[in-house]
Amino acid sequence: MPIVSIKDTNHTFEVNKGEILYDSLFDRGHTLPHGCLSGSCGACKVEVFEGKDQLDKPGAIEQNTIDSLREEFKILHGEEFIKNKEIRLSCRAKILGDVIIKPIK
Ligand code: FES
Repeated sequence: MPIVSIKDTNHTFEVNKGEILYDSLFDRGHTLPHGCLSGSCGACKVEVFEGKDQLDKPGAIEQNTIDSLREEFKILHGEEFIKNKEIRLSCRAKILGDVIIKPIK
């Protein structure tokens, strides 16, 4: 079973393959930041530190929101800040294997 770890905490969760990241942690008593839970507000954004290939590919809705978030970050913090960041939406990303993530505030 995949393990989801939250970076800089001692929170690790054994989850089922194919579960949505947000739902999998919520079902195990950990609530990630969120808003719409449908992929459009971006409130559930997380940075993926390890295992980016262990999440399914973003669908069109998630990718549009990620693209907007990247543009916002670029304007607010500069190109360098966002260059190597892997951003996903926890309400859309499906878990395929072990990942280490952290909510982006
Ligand atoms: S909660 Fe709105 S995009 Fe995930």
